Amino acid sequence: MKVLTVVGARPQFVKAAVVSRELRRDHEETLVHTGQHYDESLSDVFFEELAIPRPDENLGVGSDTHGRQTARMLEGLAATVEAEAPDVVLVYGDTNSTLAAAIAASKLDPALAHVEAGMRSGSDMPEETNRVLTDHAADLCFAPSREAASNLRDEGITAGVHVTGDVGYDALLWARERADRSVLGDFGVTDREFVLATVHREANADDPDRLAAIVDALADDPRPVVFPAHPRTTDRLREFGQYERAARELTLVDPVGYRRFVALLDAAAVVATDSGGVQKEAFFLDTPCVTLREETEWVETVESGWNVLAGADADRIRVALADATAPDEKPQPYGDGHAAERIVEILETSVEKPEVRDRVR
Ligand code: UD1
Ligand code: UDP
Repeated sequence: MKVLTVVGARPQFVKAAVVSRELRRDHEETLVHTGQHYDESLSDVFFEELAIPRPDENLGVGSDTHGRQTARMLEGLAATVEAEAPDVVLVYGDTNSTLAAAIAASKLDPALAHVEAGMRSGSDMPEETNRVLTDHAADLCFAPSREAASNLRDEGITAGVHVTGDVGYDALLWARERADRSVLGDFGVTDREFVLATVHREANADDPDRLAAIVDALADDPRPVVFPAHPRTTDRLREFGQYERAARELTLVDPVGYRRFVALLDAAAVVATDSGGVQKEAFFLDTPCVTLREETEWVETVESGWNVLAGADADRIRVALADATAPDEKPQPYGDGHAAERIVEILETSVEKPEVRDRVR
C-alpha cells in the first residue's frame, strides 16, 4: 500500500509520528509537510524528538490569511498527489493543512482517510469548518471516540467510519516514558506547585480584551505560572502592549519540545489552555484542566469533571484555577493506546483489497 501523509502544524507531527511508525513496517509512506509551521520550536524539534522521518517534500507555504494559505497548499498538494499517485491520502485533525489535503485528494483518484474524525465543538472557529468539510470529503473516518462517531452519524456520515481510539493517546504513552523532566529545573518549578498555560487560538490571541483577561487571571494565581507561548501569542502581546506585564508576572518562554511539554503537563497542579490536544493530554496524565474557551470538542473531559470551561473571563478563570481538583474517577473514552495499529489494519483491509475499496469509496 502506498500512503501519502500530509502534515503541517505542531499537533499533526505528534499524531503522524505514531501512525507513521506503524505504517512503515510494511508499507510505503510519502510524507509531505505543507510548511504551515516553520519555526524550529514548532516544527523541527518534533521531527527530532519523535524520530519522524524527514519529509519527502516541504511546500514551504508559511503564514498568511486562511484563504491564501489554504489555496497555496491546495495548489502544491494537488500536484504532489497527482505525481505520487498514492492509494490513500492520510490527513490529521483540523488545520488548514488538513483541509487543503482533503480537497486535493477528494478531487483526484486516491482514497482520503481522516484521523481524528467526528470531533465537533459547535463553535464557529476556523478549525470547525476544517473538520466538517474534511469529514464530508473523506472515504475513511477514524473517530477517536464513540461520541465522535455519533457526531458523524448525526451529519449522515456512516460509511467508512471506524472508532479506533485516539492516536494522541498512543503518542502520549510513548512520550510519558521519555518525558524530559530537566525542564522543571530549567524553569525553577517543582511537582504540583505550578500552573502551566498555553494560548494560541485566534479568538483569544488576536483579541486584546480576551488576551488581557487571560493574562490578568494567570497573574493573580499565587503559584508560579509557566507559559510556553506560541509565536502568534507573543506577537500579539507585544502589539497590544501587554508583553512587559506578562513577562514580569509569568514565566513566559518559547514553545518547548514535546518531551519537555509532557513533563511540564504531568507535573503541573493544573493547566490553563485553549489547545485541543493539551486538554486531552491533561486528562490522560490526571492533571486538571481549565479550558480558555466556551466550548470543546473533547466533551468527555468536561462531562467527567476533569476539565472546566472558563472562556476568557478573568473571574471564571481565577475561580476555576483555584478550585481545580482531580475527580476520584476517570472514564477511558479515547481507546487503549493502540489506535495507530488499528488505523493501519483498517487501511490495509479497506484500501488494499479492491473489492472493499470500491465499497468504501
Ligand atoms: C494552527 C491551526 C490550529 C492548531 C495550531 C497548532 C489553522 C487554521 N490553525 O494555528 O488549528 O491548533 O496550528 O499549533 O490551521 N507563526 C510563526 N511561526 C510558525 C508558524 C506560525 O511565527 O512557525 C505565527 C505567524 O505569525 C502566523 C501565526 O503564528 O501568522 C499563526 O499561525 P497559523 O499556522 O496560521 O495558525 P496557528 O495559530 O499556528
Ligand atoms: N505542545 C508542545 N510544546 C508546547 C505546547 C504544546 O510540545 O510548548 C504539544 C502538546 O503536547 C500537544 C500539541 O503540542 O501534543 C498541541 O498543539 P497545539 O496546542 O498547538 O494545537 P491543538 O492541539 O490545539 O490543535
